[in-house]
Amino acid sequence: MSAPTAPSSTRITIGSARRLRGEITVPGDKALSHRAVIFNSIGEGVAHITNFLPGEDCLSSIACMRQLGIQIEFDEEARTVVVHGKGLRGLEEPSDILNAGNSGTTMRFLSGLLSGFPFQSVITGDGSLRSRPMKRVIEPLKLMGSNISGRKNDTLAPLVIRGGNLKSFRYDLPVASAQLKTCLLLAGLYAEGDTVLGGLIESRDHTERFLTAMGAPLEKTADTLVMHGPARDLKALDVEVPGDISSAAFWLVAASVHPDADLTLRKVGVNETRTGVIDVLRQMGADITFENETLVGGEPVADLRVKSARLQAGHIGGSIIPRLVDEIPALAVAALLAEGTSEVRDASELRVKETDRIAAIAKEFGRLGVEVATRSDGFSINGPVSGLKGSLVESYGDHRLAMALAIAGLLLPAGEALEVEDFHCADVSYPGFWDDLARIAE
Ligand code: S3P
Repeated sequence: MSAPTAPSSTRITIGSARRLRGEITVPGDKALSHRAVIFNSIGEGVAHITNFLPGEDCLSSIACMRQLGIQIEFDEEARTVVVHGKGLRGLEEPSDILNAGNSGTTMRFLSGLLSGFPFQSVITGDGSLRSRPMKRVIEPLKLMGSNISGRKNDTLAPLVIRGGNLKSFRYDLPVASAQLKTCLLLAGLYAEGDTVLGGLIESRDHTERFLTAMGAPLEKTADTLVMHGPARDLKALDVEVPGDISSAAFWLVAASVHPDADLTLRKVGVNETRTGVIDVLRQMGADITFENETLVGGEPVADLRVKSARLQAGHIGGSIIPRLVDEIPALAVAALLAEGTSEVRDASELRVKETDRIAAIAKEFGRLGVEVATRSDGFSINGPVSGLKGSLVESYGDHRLAMALAIAGLLLPAGEALEVEDFHCADVSYPGFWDDLARIAE
């Protein structure tokens, strides 16, 4: 292809690619990088983290934990982090407002953790994060006994927290959100008695695996998670972070829909609470194989080989949604070349991600000449779309939208080009995305 070029400081141009070839090592998993820093801050002793994701969201977690008195060494080039944990009671009252930036994970995890401490803290974030729903964490944390409040009648950040004296409680999660689940499990470490979570607890399980490996008193039954608080000391846990399947998803889709593609993605985390994107692509007819499967730090990892395929329409809804919620912008691109009407349902959470992803996909795909029919909890696309048009598209500062649009650009007819406005936001989860794109697209 015409390699991506950045004509202005905020826009990048993508042209059609003749072939996609090569190997990519996607950066470390975002969800695990956050957990490795935040959880080890309350561990006993020193934890070494390798293949840490140096994306902006995870840097927000490091900055906040440092403000809470934790010594953290970060080597950006080596992608290593050393966390000097101070134990379960070791956090200190911050002398200034904590800033989670664009990171919902940082804000929601810290709201639960800080509810365990009897000092005051305030957490804010950027404009996008200050408009995302926080009632889901404020309401249950109050029931546990935390003094937490938020703007607009306890629905939005900034959040003001004075914790301590948490009591046992039982709560059915009303949304399948790993951020909410983690928030309450972290608070549960400090509660007097059991924190019992039921309802929609099936979402990515990294927190359960991680806290259990640290020695937390966490028990899983058929339909509940129980934290037997208050916890005793947690062990520091060294972590080798696997590659992020949410980042690999862009290449899985690009290679599946491109007529001449063969890509190998090295050392990708394939925890089955995250692999919905592979299940759906395979159901659509994708040619994806696992090679060199192994376990790294308790998480399954594999090399993924993906080649061009003819795709049929995908039908995405129900219990698979939490297993692929971040990959829906990429899957929307797969729908462009799949035969038939692809549909996404039961995904109203997309409305409250970094941007309203349903509205944004409809609007920006519309600029490429694609008609997207929307509903409150999803959308549908009739494929295959012929004659995609080059255009200027907007990312809304949403990393996953910027990367999904870029992949769509590879499918343009020869001579057409796509310009992505505000492309730097890809750094939130995938620093180096544009370089990888230039390298594999010929
Ligand atoms: C995350 C959980 C998901 C996901 C986010 C990271 C996590 O959010 O979208 O990118 O690290 O636990 P929800 O739990 O709100 O669905």
